[in-house]
Amino acid sequence: MAPRTAIRFYLNDNLVELDTLEPDRTLLDFLRLDWVLRGTKEGCAEGDCGACTVIVGRISGGVVRYLPANACIILVSMLDGAHVVTVEHLKGADGGLHPVQQAMVDFHGSQCGFCTPGFVMSLYGLWLSNPNPSTSDIEKALQGNLCRCTGYSPIVRAAQAVSNYGSVLEDALNRERETIVANLTALKDGRRVVVAGKGGKTIIPADVDDLAAVLDELPGATIVAGATDVGLWVTKFMREIAPVVIIGHLMGEVSVEDGRIVFGAGVSYARAFETIATHIPQMVELFDRIGGAQVRAMGTIGGNIANGSPIGDAPPPLIALGAEVTLRKRDRRRVVKLEDFFIAYGKQDLEKGEFVESVSVPVPASDELFGVHKVTKRRDEDITATLGAFRVKVVDGLVVAATIAYGGMAGTPKRAKAVEVALVGEAWTLESIEAALGSFDDDFQPLSDWRASADYRMLAAKNLLKRFYFETVDGPSHIVRHEVV
Ligand code: FES
Ligand code: FES
Repeated sequence: MAPRTAIRFYLNDNLVELDTLEPDRTLLDFLRLDWVLRGTKEGCAEGDCGACTVIVGRISGGVVRYLPANACIILVSMLDGAHVVTVEHLKGADGGLHPVQQAMVDFHGSQCGFCTPGFVMSLYGLWLSNPNPSTSDIEKALQGNLCRCTGYSPIVRAAQAVSNYGSVLEDALNRERETIVANLTALKDGRRVVVAGKGGKTIIPADVDDLAAVLDELPGATIVAGATDVGLWVTKFMREIAPVVIIGHLMGEVSVEDGRIVFGAGVSYARAFETIATHIPQMVELFDRIGGAQVRAMGTIGGNIANGSPIGDAPPPLIALGAEVTLRKRDRRRVVKLEDFFIAYGKQDLEKGEFVESVSVPVPASDELFGVHKVTKRRDEDITATLGAFRVKVVDGLVVAATIAYGGMAGTPKRAKAVEVALVGEAWTLESIEAALGSFDDDFQPLSDWRASADYRMLAAKNLLKRFYFETVDGPSHIVRHEVV
């Protein structure tokens, strides 16, 4: 089948077809400059502040689900087949305010107003899926939105009151749901998409086999899944990224079999959450602290692994659990232990044209202790200073196995093998833990940067191990907690 040569998606009520597109065109620039839809604001241009929040609907299994997204870092090409809804779409037929907007007005949820459209869109996305949210649901939905002047209490009160201003069933996106599903279904033609721009081309493979073929042709292409990293290469580093290969629509399967969870590399944190909550509840709080709701809706587990960041949140717990990645090049697949995938800073065990296809994660056994701690400067939506993940098996009071991994302590996510050796065979006691702390110097020589000093990182890493110990003896090991640097 010949490739399609235009990106197609719905923007509010309009079908958009683009037969030329710059590979690095962000949705925010597209909205504000090309469509003069300036309700969507630019604050940080890096996915942190939420001023640019839109909601994006995608069809799966015959239903459309809307999730928030940061327009500043999402690329227009990623929207092929989707429905983008901006704050302008909330205006009623009579020109009146939407229930979310009216609640924000009545509860004094806005002062200068710059952040307000982003808050409104995050709350709108929440209201569509959960019209009577708890305070904690609201706080979670707003983790990715910053306000410099109003303070959050009035906004939370507004969020609690939205359903008093109208029924979600009467909302346009619900009343028109059948039409939207039909429209989005009609856009799915199963073809490769290739769109050219002056800066190069963008390719959207038809399926995973097609992705393998595309990367065989273009091994140096920039692979874009959720764009939570690549978006910043564009907006902050002005990097040339063409040619671009979009993969966020691929490898989205999750399966649970024989004590292992297999995540396709395109599974977002939002999509993975339910499976994690069911099978590895010790990771729930960590997942809740990865970015904000917008980033969790876009960012993928495969992307977090493939980019090799030493401060990615997923790799340390996955290494501690003994995860393996399946790498694919053409039709050849190989399986690599995740801890061996990270070779050095910026260097992964990945050949040109090879890509991460899936990650297989053993569920901790019932007789294993497992926990994760993430240390950041602020609780929500912050990047790790130090993250420790611990899996320990204790039999008759003795440690018989230990797998411990840290992020933020080296140029890659890395196991604390000397610490593990120091623990195995010893009693699971505070004395043994303290005796093992000296081995951290054999495992790590952390760096100082703006997130934490080397000394702080080392001390925090040691304290996280002690904390894990205390929580295993004092209560269940659901032990992700906020710590202030
Ligand atoms: Fe700040 Fe997009 S402008 S998240
Ligand atoms: Fe001014 Fe939120 S109302 S930044």
